[in-house]
Amino acid sequence: MLLSYLRDRLRLTGTKYGCGGGGCGACTVMVSRYQPGTKTILHYSANACLLPVCQLQGAAVTTVEGIGSTKTRVHPVQERIARAHGSQCGFCTPGMVMSMYTLLRNTPQPTMEDIREALGGNLCRCTGYRPIVDGFRTFCQISSFQGSSFYCPACVFQGLPPQLFDQGDLLPLDPTQELIFPPELILMAQTEPQMSQRFIGENIVWISPVSLDELIQLKADHPQAPLVIGNTNIGPDIKFKGALHPIIISPTRVQELFAVTRTAQGVYIGAGCSLSVVKALLEGLVQELPEEKTEIYRALLQQLGNVGGQQIRNVAVSVGSHLSPTDRQVYEVVQGLLVPSGRPLWSLLALGQILLNKDFLVGFGKTSLKPDEIVLSVFIPVSRKWEFMGALRQAPRKENALATVTSGIRVMFTEGSSVVKELSICYGGVGPCTVSASRTFFLPTNRPWNEQTLSEAYTVLLDEISLSPSHPGGKVDFRRSLTLSLLFKFNLQILHKLWEMVRTGSLLDLSEEMSSGIRPLPNQLQPGIQVFQPVVNGQSVDDQVGRPVMHHSAISQATGEAVYCDDIPKTDGELHLVLVTSTRPHAKIRGIDVTEALQVPGVVDVITSKDIPGKKFRTFTGVDEELLAENEVSCVGQMVCAVIADTREQAKRGAAVVKIHYEDLPEPVFTKKSYFQPQRTIERGNVTQAFEEVDQVYEGEIRLGGQEHFYMETQSMVVVPSGEDRELRVYLSCQHPTYANSRDSFKQGVLSCQESWRGVWRETNISLCWRRAWFSDLLSRPRSGRAVRCVLERGEDMLITGARHPVLGRYKVGFMNDGKIIAADLHYYANSGNTADESVLVVEKVLLHLDNAYNVPNLRGHSVACKTNLPSNTAFRGFGVPQSMLVTENMINDVAMKLGRNAEEIREINMYKEVSLTHYKFQFDPKNLLRCWDECKEKSDYDSRRQAAGEFNQKNRWKKRGLAVIPIKYGIAFSEGFLNQAASLVHIYKDGSVLVSHGGTEMGQGIHTKMQQVASRELHIPTSFIHITETSTSAVPNTCPSAASFGTDANGMAVKNACETLYRRLEPVRKQNPTGTWESWVKKAFLQKISLSATGYYRGHDLYMDWEKQEGQPYAYFTYGACCSEVEVDCLSGDYRTVRTDIVTDIGRSINPSVDIGQIEGSFIQGLGLYTMEELQFSPSGVLLTRGPSQYKIPAICDIPLQFNVYLLSDSDNPHAIYSSKGIGEPVLFLGSSVFFAIKDAVAAARAEAGMDGPFTLDSPATPERTCLACNTDFTQKIPPSRPGSFKPWALNIP
Ligand SMILES: Cc1cc2nc3c(=O)[nH]c(=O)nc-3n(C[C@H](O)[C@H](O)[C@H](O)COP(=O)(O)OP(=O)(O)OC[C@H]3O[C@@H](n4cnc5c(N)ncnc54)[C@H](O)[C@@H]3O)c2cc1C
Ligand code: FES
Ligand code: FES
Repeated sequence: MLLSYLRDRLRLTGTKYGCGGGGCGACTVMVSRYQPGTKTILHYSANACLLPVCQLQGAAVTTVEGIGSTKTRVHPVQERIARAHGSQCGFCTPGMVMSMYTLLRNTPQPTMEDIREALGGNLCRCTGYRPIVDGFRTFCQISSFQGSSFYCPACVFQGLPPQLFDQGDLLPLDPTQELIFPPELILMAQTEPQMSQRFIGENIVWISPVSLDELIQLKADHPQAPLVIGNTNIGPDIKFKGALHPIIISPTRVQELFAVTRTAQGVYIGAGCSLSVVKALLEGLVQELPEEKTEIYRALLQQLGNVGGQQIRNVAVSVGSHLSPTDRQVYEVVQGLLVPSGRPLWSLLALGQILLNKDFLVGFGKTSLKPDEIVLSVFIPVSRKWEFMGALRQAPRKENALATVTSGIRVMFTEGSSVVKELSICYGGVGPCTVSASRTFFLPTNRPWNEQTLSEAYTVLLDEISLSPSHPGGKVDFRRSLTLSLLFKFNLQILHKLWEMVRTGSLLDLSEEMSSGIRPLPNQLQPGIQVFQPVVNGQSVDDQVGRPVMHHSAISQATGEAVYCDDIPKTDGELHLVLVTSTRPHAKIRGIDVTEALQVPGVVDVITSKDIPGKKFRTFTGVDEELLAENEVSCVGQMVCAVIADTREQAKRGAAVVKIHYEDLPEPVFTKKSYFQPQRTIERGNVTQAFEEVDQVYEGEIRLGGQEHFYMETQSMVVVPSGEDRELRVYLSCQHPTYANSRDSFKQGVLSCQESWRGVWRETNISLCWRRAWFSDLLSRPRSGRAVRCVLERGEDMLITGARHPVLGRYKVGFMNDGKIIAADLHYYANSGNTADESVLVVEKVLLHLDNAYNVPNLRGHSVACKTNLPSNTAFRGFGVPQSMLVTENMINDVAMKLGRNAEEIREINMYKEVSLTHYKFQFDPKNLLRCWDECKEKSDYDSRRQAAGEFNQKNRWKKRGLAVIPIKYGIAFSEGFLNQAASLVHIYKDGSVLVSHGGTEMGQGIHTKMQQVASRELHIPTSFIHITETSTSAVPNTCPSAASFGTDANGMAVKNACETLYRRLEPVRKQNPTGTWESWVKKAFLQKISLSATGYYRGHDLYMDWEKQEGQPYAYFTYGACCSEVEVDCLSGDYRTVRTDIVTDIGRSINPSVDIGQIEGSFIQGLGLYTMEELQFSPSGVLLTRGPSQYKIPAICDIPLQFNVYLLSDSDNPHAIYSSKGIGEPVLFLGSSVFFAIKDAVAAARAEAGMDGPFTLDSPATPERTCLACNTDFTQKIPPSRPGSFKPWALNIP
């Protein structure tokens, strides 16, 4: 594929590997081709991971390195994403840049809609997309700068709020300066005779014919060989499913496959035309033809915009989709629309035309097309008068996701009436292939299209489309209800159109209330507001503290120059390591046979636990955990052995033939049964007695699913022998290098090396270091002096590394009729997986935060870490707090519903109001919590919007709006006191430049940028003098993990300490020459033999938690915040849109507002993903099914709030952290739950209309499935629930 060619052969590592399957956009490049017919150049974005190099004959490929660099000129696209603070870890940035760059090559002044569409296939896990959108918005012709994020120094002097970046400084876009298409390729296309080509590889022969005759002959000779055009089906099949295709035919140069012919009846589109070409063509036809002729085209367009991301649509052809087993979307639409009309759809070479009818798809991935048949073109007819089409779908994400259910519905009326002549309905997602509801077809024929007819149709449909409760993909009740509600939506569309055309008889136009069923959800991205405090008057311009300084690596990330772990150049003879993992959830290992693996060419060694010298386990949080499974496996995905070979492919081949003989152990356990010790309990007041005294008692529960880290850079390690004495240099993506640096496992073993470590961290996740440490232990065994590299593929990474703990929360709450909560008893069960890892610490933190912002006088919590046969779950941003507080807030919501009041009122009644003690007797002042709450309500205009939402809900039957305001009180620093320390090392060189090393890990959160600002203030020099080195344990030993939102607090103080020392040492020379420059003082100091190197150290807070006494001081201080979100929910599909979000946070005096706002927005979106979208699914035998972006949906650009405002609380001081700032990395993630509770609020309105009041269950994430079912519409009510226990579900219900 082009990706490995670029990265491995050409050393162009700016193009990144994120998933390898076209789902993340990290590998986006621009492909340009000369089109001799029109003498034009076509530019399109594509995923390099799916682009076969053989297919690029005659094409020019532009990568991120090609458009600009720090050595030449940074391209405006690269500059704007960096300047707008749209790059944090930067791993997605080159892909974003290339998607935007390609758009600008085609449309130099795009609209916001163009931008949204261009970036739809690019995922970012850090930024929350808002700053990326704002940066690129500056390219729009009429860009609405007002109120958006532009830093304007002049504004500060005029008393206007400061902005995050200055648009006046941006490089202009000059299309005349872009790279030209290579003239030699034009010449080649014009003059060189087209010849057929053959590329013969190790396992595949790639044949590219140039004529139709040749293609026919090839297909006749090799009927089993696929025709590959987009490679978006065949590519993933080969890569992920091991499909073998010894011969591949690539017909991209056969002109006939790209011809477009228009007739009065419709249009023939060459079978080789990409979906983007088809889309553009249909858009043109819709503009040009009378409306009645374009029903089919408009219906198709509705679907085409949702197929994959832009990069996929640019290469994939519609025929490929029809012929693939899983991707039914386009096919179903056309089938639904066209089949019963008796019109041909495909032109087959030599065979004439075939219909896409129910006989065409014969099973999962099977069609009636014969192996040697070739589709020449697709015919899409114009519609006829009185013929109406609908293409409706529902997917787990609004865009770039395969549909859960998709439908194509067509109805033909008798002219001038509402009497049905023909009806056809087809569904995808409710069977192995397209399902045609043929019994339902006939019911309304010759009958008027009215409620009575429809109601009978639903009954037949329900009976006709039945699904097994074990249906692959699950969501059975939801799918069935969608078959009805999508037909109902179509009905609403038709009623309106019919009324417009007939306007007589009993027909009525849709009421506003009913038309809400077909009105699309709002979709217009608005510029957001970011408010922060300007620096104090008189602050030196050189003092960068408090200013929105750009992330220090942003430009190198945007140009692709930043070096990530796998970008480190390969050393001579480097080896590759691939892990072999358990396929059983619980089994004895009876033997491991590596004989065959060792015979695979290139395989050097296979490491099993027997090969590990010394201790075969690592002790973490007091518990021993095996490095490689020796005698028993306890989850699927557990590491058993590792294959080392000359190349990664050889290592993979070796890994595939390692034979592990298992003996299954009794029934594996996937939910709570046994627990890791200790279990924790905490209580204040007398809960039992208080329950006797309250007006009401309510008991409820909520389940919260886990969350995959989905950092864009997968786990990577490179171990390079260097120097003498068996010294190893280990590069690894890790937040806790010192843990990886531990010599524990080698005490009696082979290692006598001096470790020299350098972390290259660009991740967004909290520490999984102990596991990575394991990998590096393996790697660091000297292999004949050769370096070893291990980079996990996305699927392996997701399988092995575990996730955020899924939690079941149960509660009993006692409250008075006025809303005051008097007693609460909460139980938390965290699914920890097969090892203890940090689970006990996580469940402790769960208990420490169970009060959130509320002063419940009698409060009891009990939490346990459940041992199960799933991969070990682990720490993730928030460390249990997001789970803990969701349960608490849900309890408050239930109290509000019991009392028939808004949840915000109950929250206010119960909030801490004055200096108080937490339930663990820690004193704090909630003043700023209350300020955040009040400001949030005021800035979001909560009261009037709540009223407006109520009015909206009364007028709209099928769309409901909901609001929620959620507070947070989040403890900062480690409750394990010894971790609150940090060190630094600062060198001043003779030329005045400064090198700062510290123990914090840069994973995108901007710690290096902040450390630069700290050093700048302390040394009184501009940041341009200061360089931050990558974190290395050889420079700063004994680092503590960059976690607990404490990285800047600790390392900032350590850097400050070292810089203060140095500045003091320079005092004599400064005094001698007060008007001198920094460089002159440094030079002088050197001549006077003053040491210009200093270490810094910070001995942080002595925090603790005594679980025996149930009291302690586990945090240094609290970060506060409040967030108001409003959503609009489509009750018929469960789809929703966050209309607006306003966040107010108290982060003291921000050291860098752009970095902090970036953390706030990014973690909010991660929280939104956790609570509303991201679903980990395991098979009944414990196999993780969601192992890539195709199955696991993180928020994309289509999911962000349409308006997203962030305010940093003014005039807040914090005596406990550097420069009065506060930690912000984790707290805001929980505020993503405001979207969850806003959805719940909207669902409550829908239920109320159905006559259902009071608390109800909505588990997290509130996916469209759960939301729709909770709305309890007429359609969901029709679905008979499957009897639990009577079937084996497709996926486990975790926790
Ligand atoms: C990340 C990602 C997201 C996706 N999202 C969606 C989605 O949301 N909805 C959806 O419907 N699909 C989706 N797909 C699937 C994709 O749209 C389809 O796979 C695509 O249409 C396949 O086209 P292709 O050219 O890439 O097929 P290829 O992989 O090149 O070929 C696929 C098959 O088509 C056959 N074929 C191709 N042309 C002809 C011909 N002329 N005559 C006979 N046989 C032919 C080939 O023999 C081969 O078997 C997604 C794919 C990816 C990777
Ligand atoms: S790596 Fe190519 S799309 Fe993810
Ligand atoms: S900056 Fe986008 S993934 Fe990190």
